[in-house]
Amino acid sequence: MKKRIGVLLSGRGSNFEALADSVASGRIPDAESAIVISNREGAPGLERAKSRGISTRAIPSKGLERETYDRQVVAVLNEHKVDLVCLAGYMRLLSPFFVSSFPNRILNIHPSLLPSFPGLESQRQALEYGVKFAGCTVHFVDENLDAGPIVLQSVVPVKDDDTEDTLSARILQEEHKIYSEAVRIVLEGRYKIEGRRVMRIT
Ligand code: GAR
Repeated sequence: MKKRIGVLLSGRGSNFEALADSVASGRIPDAESAIVISNREGAPGLERAKSRGISTRAIPSKGLERETYDRQVVAVLNEHKVDLVCLAGYMRLLSPFFVSSFPNRILNIHPSLLPSFPGLESQRQALEYGVKFAGCTVHFVDENLDAGPIVLQSVVPVKDDDTEDTLSARILQEEHKIYSEAVRIVLEGRYKIEGRRVMRIT
């Protein structure tokens, strides 16, 4: 049976689209895009999903306690029989309830080489710090911010004339590549976790 992917996003949705393309082309084999959920009603990513014929749901989070909100999201994911949850620009921390509902079945993409520069505006943080290499990370999600065992990372150079926009664009290209690869590894079960280390099984 095909593995069902649920995507959570808050904005643009380019990582969602990269995943959906990989599913459609077979780069992520034996999988299907089950549902895209956003905490923001106007998220452009929702429109992108609709135009591909993928089910979408906006679940506004305003004014709700974290777990109360997460219970609604988890219910929709379960309704759609989701096997793997992919956070793709989803700007919310998950509650312990959410994390324990999908043990080792939630991934996140983050635009820095974690553990450097967690949180918001990571590309700007990297530029301001003056690092010579930046990049992105796909990791399993726990209840902490941008934490959890790392599945894949990709490195890009920081150039002297980079702005936040040019660096973000270079990182984003890598995000789109490694997210699909990480989803493929996880769905195929070709890994084991020892402590914080995710090791590939070939
Ligand atoms: C991406 O750069 C993603 O790595 C980042 O938000 C952007 C969403 O872009 N996520 C985080 O910062 C999470 N901490 P997208 O909507 O085009 O995929």
